[in-house]
Amino acid sequence: MILFENVTKTYPRTTRPALEDVSLEIPRGEFAFVVGTSGSGKSTMMQLVMKEQDVTSGRVLVAGRDFDRLPERKVPALRREIGCVFQDFRLLPNKTVFQNVAYALQVLGSSRARIRQTVPETLELVGLAGMEKRLPHQLSGGEQQRVAIARAFVNRPPILLADEPTGNLDPDTSLGIVQLLDRINRTGTTVVMATHDTVTVNAMRKRVIRLDRGVLVSDMEAGDYTTGSLPRIRLDETGAPRRADEPEVPDGYDDGDPTAYDGRSDHDDHDDRDDRDDRDDTDDTDGPDALPPIGRDADEPRGRGGLFRRSKATQTSSH
Ligand SMILES: Nc1ncnc2c1ncn2[C@@H]1O[C@H](COP(=O)(O)OP(=O)(O)O)[C@@H](O)[C@H]1O
Ligand SMILES: [Mg+2]
Repeated sequence: MILFENVTKTYPRTTRPALEDVSLEIPRGEFAFVVGTSGSGKSTMMQLVMKEQDVTSGRVLVAGRDFDRLPERKVPALRREIGCVFQDFRLLPNKTVFQNVAYALQVLGSSRARIRQTVPETLELVGLAGMEKRLPHQLSGGEQQRVAIARAFVNRPPILLADEPTGNLDPDTSLGIVQLLDRINRTGTTVVMATHDTVTVNAMRKRVIRLDRGVLVSDMEAGDYTTGSLPRIRLDETGAPRRADEPEVPDGYDDGDPTAYDGRSDHDDHDDRDDRDDRDDTDDTDGPDALPPIGRDADEPRGRGGLFRRSKATQTSSH
């Protein structure tokens, strides 16, 4: 879960805040777009979630951690729970596809056996099976971004942040990347994607959080970047409206989510790896192979008598 309470961020030697009094909640397992023109504060929001920047005022909570009370020595553990994808891919140019993805596990101290198993699985998930030995320059832009997504997701983080991941890609390729992020979201990972790619946002019918000069100006379920006119219906992970008596899944590490990261590193407990891999294989609702076809939501009818969203976010007319 990601929670912002009245967050303002003003960078040193600037007068106008990059984010101003932003309050929002992104529940665990959600897919949310953050949209807005260049300079509206999207990257700042991502950096605050990563604790790469600190708020000027207000409060941030991520994955059960109150950043006000998070000592610096615990920041690396937080970052291990957040995968990041950027516009410029940031691959190691002299390393193969396999090595680029494996590197993310090596720095966490994963065993070679785990790397040998998990890297190919993840490359298959992102649609790059058979490309393990290529170097980044031997890949298209879309393929390079898939490597970057595999690297960000290879340790199965509960949160994936993507900051303009389609910014360097053509529209068709962009859609494929966002559909891949959707597929990852369906494994239980919370996905937050910053973008100003209207076509992609409109195709996906996901939550859209819109920033304008640092101010949160709208927040819509199944939103449309352009008009924002769609109803704010709370949908569950199957696409069905959530029932009134159905509680939100509580945030935490003990709710039985088979994909949840338990906060332990590979160093601490090697059995953990086996547990998680077994659960991936046997669980028939959350495992990658059991996922519905990507892009399914795009065709689904909306407005089936759902409930209005329990959202603190505002929906004001934009200026
Ligand atoms: N490190 C920084 N130092 C000073 N100002 C910054 C810094 N990063 C971003 N800004 C400013 O904060 C505002 C929001 O920037 P940013 O979060 O990068 O927006 P976006 O990602 O939507 O383009 C802009 O006015 C930008 O110039
Ligand atoms: Mg940015």
